[in-house]
Amino acid sequence: MNPTFANPTPARSVLFVCLGNICRSPLAEGVFRSVLEASGRAANVDIDSAGTNGYHTGEAPDPRSIAVARRHGIDIAGQRCRQLTAEDFDRFDLVLGMDQINMTAIERRRPQSSSALTGLFHQVALGAAVQIPDPYYGGETDFENVYRMVLAASKGLLSRF
Ligand code: 4NP
Repeated sequence: MNPTFANPTPARSVLFVCLGNICRSPLAEGVFRSVLEASGRAANVDIDSAGTNGYHTGEAPDPRSIAVARRHGIDIAGQRCRQLTAEDFDRFDLVLGMDQINMTAIERRRPQSSSALTGLFHQVALGAAVQIPDPYYGGETDFENVYRMVLAASKGLLSRF
């Protein structure tokens, strides 16, 4: 968390960050976009996702993330994996990590000059410092659990926009 955590200025952009950018953050990008559109406030909001590592750069999201999104009426198949960059801290008002490991990597990469608000997605959205667990070595239930957590946090995040 940083000093701008409680800044009430409405955000215009958000970057969701996880480790690989193939499981959790693509789902967060797709679900938040869907929630924002349903609220009628999606115009001119910049939404993206990135990974702290570059192992899967250029790849589509994990098929299990695509599947869970599709089961809930959201298409994330067109997304492509990319790595978090220093420029992201200028482009985005909010840079939100899924877990504490992501947050450590985010803070390490954050330029001193950046005024982006960084924090755990769930905490910035809903107040409690809950981590969204990595489902990569799990199964369908784990991906459904990530979906449910991301949906709840996305609804909470609406109040920032
Ligand atoms: P994500 O999950 O951070 O939610 O995208 C992972 C994806 C890939 C790996 C680990 C976690 N990996 O080790 O390749």
